[in-house]
Amino acid sequence: MLDNLGDLERSHSCGALRAEDVGESVTLMGWVAVRRDFGPLTFFDLRDRDGVTQIVFDAEDAPEAHARAKEVRGEYVIAVRGEVVLRAEGQRNPKLSTGEVEVQAREIWILNEARTPPFQLEVSSPEKLASEDVRLKFRYLDLRRPQLQANLRLRARVVGEIHRYMDEQDFTEIETPILIKSTPEGARDYVVPSRLHAGRFYALPQSPQIFKQICMIAGLDKYYQIARCFRDEDLRADRQPEFSQLDVEFSFATPEQVYKLVEGLLARVFRLAGAELPVPFPRMTYVEALSRYGSDKPDLRFGMELQDLSHALEGTTFAPFASALEAGGEVKGLTVKGGAVLSRKVLDELQEHAKRYGAGALGWIKLGDELSSSLLKVLGEETISRVAATAGAARGDAVLIVAGKSKTVAASLGALRNEVARREKLIPGNVYAPLWVTEFPMFEYHEDDGRFYAMHHPFTSPLDDDLPLFERAVEGGETELLAGLRAKAYDTVVNGIEVAGGSIRIHRRDVQRLVFKALGVTEEKARARFGFFLDALEYGTPPHGGIASGIERLMMALTGTENIRDVMAFPKTASAADLMIDAPGELDPQQLEELRIKIVED
Ligand code: AMO
Repeated sequence: MLDNLGDLERSHSCGALRAEDVGESVTLMGWVAVRRDFGPLTFFDLRDRDGVTQIVFDAEDAPEAHARAKEVRGEYVIAVRGEVVLRAEGQRNPKLSTGEVEVQAREIWILNEARTPPFQLEVSSPEKLASEDVRLKFRYLDLRRPQLQANLRLRARVVGEIHRYMDEQDFTEIETPILIKSTPEGARDYVVPSRLHAGRFYALPQSPQIFKQICMIAGLDKYYQIARCFRDEDLRADRQPEFSQLDVEFSFATPEQVYKLVEGLLARVFRLAGAELPVPFPRMTYVEALSRYGSDKPDLRFGMELQDLSHALEGTTFAPFASALEAGGEVKGLTVKGGAVLSRKVLDELQEHAKRYGAGALGWIKLGDELSSSLLKVLGEETISRVAATAGAARGDAVLIVAGKSKTVAASLGALRNEVARREKLIPGNVYAPLWVTEFPMFEYHEDDGRFYAMHHPFTSPLDDDLPLFERAVEGGETELLAGLRAKAYDTVVNGIEVAGGSIRIHRRDVQRLVFKALGVTEEKARARFGFFLDALEYGTPPHGGIASGIERLMMALTGTENIRDVMAFPKTASAADLMIDAPGELDPQQLEELRIKIVED
């Protein structure tokens, strides 16, 4: 039989009681996390969002409550009333905020039963958790875990702080629509069929980019919003099809003003988690970041910079290196401090990792008691020693080497740098290393379809200095120049996570025209997609710019998790499915009919 809540009220949360409360009569409510039965004594760990309190039922002290407690199973919802008592010496639990005390229960109310959960919620370490798919299906159970609860509560505080800060900075919160037309952020759109306009479709925003720029044209001056964004793209551990952005735009913006605004904001937000960010953030151009760290989002919590080995290898006849250098590519290396102990197995695994990022092979040198190297036969001891010295390796270290096109060398060594640091535990804890990566390229050449794409989005302004080059590239037909054009685009990176990205926008119609032309978008096509925006640009557009910060990414940097799903309440899987509600789902025939949609079987 279940009990009614009636007018029973909680006096404390399950995380509140301390030694000072001893002697008080309290009423707690929550879920039974753990139950231990010792005959005349029964113990519960009672859990709510604030913590866990130990409850003890003593057959001698409260026989009725003790008997009733026997009916209770894990995850039952109960209320107890009793007295706070000090735990016996030796039974105190310093890991628990309430660990000095327990509640001697006199009364118990069973408010609800629970089926046996399909997985264990209480585990001693995260590795012991059930598979993520099971936990996502029963998300409401997984969310009961204290770690997820803490992440979501911190997220709410972060969002609150963002609102306060943006308000103090005199920004206006403006909502933009969700049912819109395609926005170009480089992913596929999620589309929504229209019933009233059969055969036509809305697109969900990949970001509010065009709307926020329209806000500037409208004279709203300082806009912000925490916006929901939708992107149909290949998912990774740090991506979700649906996520939230702090989206910002203001008029007459300079990059310096954007940097200052964001640095102030992030300093405030990180302080919530007890972390001090070094302000101002260091800055690095895109070219420098790639050359030194092999990544446009370098993790600066540790060194391990890539070293150019081309000089040390001058005149080499070893084909993979010689041909890479002849073709204008690079040979670069990464010194792993203390890496001479890396086993062949680990080196093979690292090679596989590098190959995933396009490397043909991974060469290695180990400066152990004896010199050993995968390249000993082909390069000889003298060259190997020169290469090791150039890479800055000392006795006890290892050097990992990749040759090829600059892009491949950067991608594979950049990935190795992170992988080695993670495996060898070279990343210090509780350190936050932010930076700005600036001067991103305007365009990126895709070899598969032989054309240029906007690196950020097509509304990003080129550097003033590069504008003449841009005109030559587009109007003069010197297309190859496009690859070298730099944009007024910047990313904020914290601990190797891209937490924000933005740019100064194009406010001139003639420059916007050049971008579309460079991208191979005809005037008609541009008009069909963004005609309204191109028109708007002609009605007095102020210079403007902004940035957007992924809230989930920010939370990943703050909490140190590598899994974006740890900082969202209801995430989707890597195949964009919601396992709890079983979405996406099918439509019934009548709905399809109304929308005039026919499903074509494969
Ligand atoms: P961008 O595409 O760089 O820029 O996105 C801005 C920030 O949003 C976060 N982010 C994501 N987070 C989770 N899942 C995803 N799939 C995902 N994609 C992006 C990242 C990223 O830095 N309109 C521009 C902003 C601007 O120019 O002002 C834009 O959306 O933290």
